[in-house]
Amino acid sequence: MTTPPGNTAPHTTHTVWDAGVRWFHWINLLCVLGLIAVGVAILNDKALGVDNDGKILLKTVHVWIGYVFALNITWRLVWAFIGGPYARWSALLPGGRGYLSELRESAADLRAGRARPYLGHDPFGRIVLSILLLLLSTQAVTGLILAGTDLFLPPFGGSIARWVAAPGVDPGTLVPYQPALYDATAYAAMREFRAPVVTIHLYVFYSLLVVAAAHIAGVVIAEIREGGTLVSAMFTGKKILRGPPADGARKPLNPRTPGL
Ligand code: HEM
Repeated sequence: MTTPPGNTAPHTTHTVWDAGVRWFHWINLLCVLGLIAVGVAILNDKALGVDNDGKILLKTVHVWIGYVFALNITWRLVWAFIGGPYARWSALLPGGRGYLSELRESAADLRAGRARPYLGHDPFGRIVLSILLLLLSTQAVTGLILAGTDLFLPPFGGSIARWVAAPGVDPGTLVPYQPALYDATAYAAMREFRAPVVTIHLYVFYSLLVVAAAHIAGVVIAEIREGGTLVSAMFTGKKILRGPPADGARKPLNPRTPGL
């Protein structure tokens, strides 16, 4: 944003993103990039000439990154209850008192090319981030189920192994792609149970690509229009704004928040 003539408002620095939000954000980004890279390799295993052992290795690497990802997202969902004022559900979910008029004003400002800096998430950002969190959580849940059905890995792998082990075979010894160790009927039933989970995991992956692109586009547009510090704020926690923020300063709910 260029300063409008006569706007002599000083730059003000606000501590916005607490350490919980910042750590979540960057760990999540690294995990999602890793999961997408390995996921795309799993999707194209045949074209890449990967054999069964290679497939198991790819899936195992994907699942280990997935564990970090799932723990991180679980932590973020908890932090939305106990974290700083800008980390909370009230600052994140679309809705609440005055949300719709905020959304209308933001849309009008966007059309008119006026900058409207927010300390927390702007009304459009809230919609995109809520969808992102929902998609990421769905990926964590479906991924953990697939870790059990495909590789007999925790947290559900033990139950899946007990379900499909052939009579006389110790479920603890089951390994992937060894049909001789499985009860054929139970294994077919398990594959049937797993099929919709794979479909959800795949389509949420495609949706994530679209919503993550919308998230990045939103950040870039806001950064350019407001001449702000949106990206660096996710490292430092601090936003530097020119003039008063549209959402005012939220009262700190948590004394640990400032300067974390
Ligand atoms: C943002 C998060 C994630 C993304 C983008 C993602 C992406 C993908 C993709 C593209 C595939 C290939 C789909 C296919 O073969 O049909 C896949 C498969 C798989 N994912 Fe994920 N994944 C994510 C999270 C997780 C998590 C958290 C876990 C478990 C801890 C997990 C476990 C698996 C497993 C076991 C498979 C193999 C399923 C199969 O046989 O096709 N994923 N994932």
